[in-house]
Amino acid sequence: MKFLKFTLPLFLICTLTLTAQNSLINPDIENRIESLVQQMTLDEKIGQLHQVSGYNENLKQQIQQGKIGSFLNVKGATATNEIQRIAVEESRLKIPLIFGLDVIHGYRTIFPIPLGEASSWDPDLVERTSAMAAREAAASGIHWTFAPMVDIARDPRWGRIAEGHGEDPYLGSVLAAAKVRGFQGKSLNDPFTIVACPKHYVAYGGAQAGRDYHAVDISINTLREIYLPPFKVAVDAGAGTIMSAFNELNGVPTSANLFTLTQILRNEWGFQGFVVSDWNSIGELLNHGIAATPAEAGIKALLAGVDMDMMGFVYANNLADLEKQGIISEKTIDEAVRRILRIKFQLGLFEHPFINPEFEKTTVLSKENLALARESAQKSIVLLKNDNQLLPLNKNIKSLAVIGPLADNRHDQLGCWHCEGKDIDVVTVLEGIQSKIPTEKIRYTKGCEVQGGSEKEILKAVEIAQNVEAAILVVGESADMSGEAASRSSLDLAGYQKKLVKAVYETGTPTVVVLMNGRPLTIPWIAEKIPAILETWQLGVQSGNAIADVIFGDYNPGGKLPVTFPRTVGQVPIFYNHKNTGRPSGSDKFTSKYLDVPVTPLFPFGYGLSYTKFKFSNLKVTVEKTDDMTKIFAGVEVQNIGDRIGDEIVQLYVQDVVASTTRPVKELKRFRRISLEPNEKKKVEFQLNTNELGFYNQNLEYVVEPGVFKIWVGPSSVQGLEGSFELTDN
Ligand code: GLC
Repeated sequence: MKFLKFTLPLFLICTLTLTAQNSLINPDIENRIESLVQQMTLDEKIGQLHQVSGYNENLKQQIQQGKIGSFLNVKGATATNEIQRIAVEESRLKIPLIFGLDVIHGYRTIFPIPLGEASSWDPDLVERTSAMAAREAAASGIHWTFAPMVDIARDPRWGRIAEGHGEDPYLGSVLAAAKVRGFQGKSLNDPFTIVACPKHYVAYGGAQAGRDYHAVDISINTLREIYLPPFKVAVDAGAGTIMSAFNELNGVPTSANLFTLTQILRNEWGFQGFVVSDWNSIGELLNHGIAATPAEAGIKALLAGVDMDMMGFVYANNLADLEKQGIISEKTIDEAVRRILRIKFQLGLFEHPFINPEFEKTTVLSKENLALARESAQKSIVLLKNDNQLLPLNKNIKSLAVIGPLADNRHDQLGCWHCEGKDIDVVTVLEGIQSKIPTEKIRYTKGCEVQGGSEKEILKAVEIAQNVEAAILVVGESADMSGEAASRSSLDLAGYQKKLVKAVYETGTPTVVVLMNGRPLTIPWIAEKIPAILETWQLGVQSGNAIADVIFGDYNPGGKLPVTFPRTVGQVPIFYNHKNTGRPSGSDKFTSKYLDVPVTPLFPFGYGLSYTKFKFSNLKVTVEKTDDMTKIFAGVEVQNIGDRIGDEIVQLYVQDVVASTTRPVKELKRFRRISLEPNEKKKVEFQLNTNELGFYNQNLEYVVEPGVFKIWVGPSSVQGLEGSFELTDN
């Protein structure tokens, strides 16, 4: 079969990408960089490559000597202005510092954790919350966020799944670009934007056994088709920095990996910003066993393409000697310096090194920010089950039990990496419910702890559940059970939570389970027995209000899962875009399956219910060929056939049925969240370009091959109207 090779020549790839990255190259700035580099001493150059966490008086002299280029974890306009003044008034060349911080899902107004917000499938919302976070951070003296975290994660044992956008490269790419646009705005020179830093480059989510920091060993095909796309899209969106990761990739640590850091990131994609290491990830090359000394680690990292050393002190302590020994050239150091200065100039730090402290007072935690936090939380909620329309509850309910260790909990709703978020800012579920119905109708008890504790309070929970019309049970994970260094070998509810749920259920009172968690949980018993289940993740400061809005029907949930929920941890890794195998799972014994559980997930990728119902009809698929390309159009009609307004997330999947290498059973290629009034019908149309249907073949060429493609358009990865189309090679 003649292949329709769609191998984009390297120069074309770079040209296409340079258009986005080009905004970082400005002739005037480049001239200013050159004249500054020519004035700098070697020590001052190395200083730009050195990033320190936190400030103390002992560092003042180093700033005066130009030996520190950046700080992380210094917050607040007053603090950053004071330190910046030392750099721009007391150092020889007055080069401003760049202040970085983990503004992952909000600065002080904390939005849902990224995995939660990914459940909204709403790039416009994600861009708005990122822009709001940037405003608060910039007003507080921050120039640079170590976000978006765009690691694809297929293993929920890995705690950092909470920080990203789930298992799918397309959804992850769309949201990565939205966050870069939100953080960086139209211009980095805008005092209320901050430079983005997609991380952790690359494939950190592929950690062996879901164990954080563990080795990653994957094919280059998987690297290019699953883990790289969100970074590529983020670079195309103009991201000004990238963070290298802790993990090794196929034997070479990503913080010393010339293939990913230079060949792909710079030569193929045309990235013009700078790369910062993760915390001491350069120093950790010794643990990886690819460097015998810090000096050797510094050589490997710098030559591979890591420009700034976060808290490793490797560059600061070794590069000068290495240059004097002729092992590292000053030219190499100059290249890293230029990239860092380029971002500092783009940020306007030379012209505006300080931030007006007044901005902080009016920008942080404003009413507008809280309203957006509530909207984001509402849209991130996924309705997993709602038998007999138990939800929404009627506000005239006579009595309601609110039970669980997370029902009146402030801290854990903030989730991991909650930056300057404060417990006091959080509305709990109990408080949200109290704002909807009279307090005297509500009976609350904790029931048990999230982890450990005892079961002695379960009896009290049973007692109140026996005497109410309905019970709301809020269970899940504490904030520190996901995020960094928080891998779990079990995905079950911890402590006595399962026992609490069972005991309340056995009272016979209609029960709603509200999950608050940073990763998919294995809850097969709950999924079978409990009539109504809400997946609420960790929704940030407006958590309680948004959940109460959904419980009482003031908001109709429309979120969808960005990640597969396994039945048991034994199924992991389990993801929707899997391969078919030569013996796809079936009734025959000798097919790919388990003896003890089905191969299907508990809840699939893209799944989520609504209080209303949607009907999909009239799928039409057409292929249009023009001289230079072929476009595929898919249209469908979606009607709200229920009695209340609701959102549906229309998803389009394709399958390349026969190709020169095996292809996934389906891949998400488009989606759109739409809102429909009762009985309203909308036509939703998508356009696909041929080059989106390609893959990396055995020779690692990017090819689009002729043949039949199946296409599905529907409400999840397991439902939808099916069609097909054919690509021909003439
Ligand atoms: C941490 C994380 C990284 C974070 C950095 C700075 O170890 O891996 O995501 O941005 O250090 O806090």
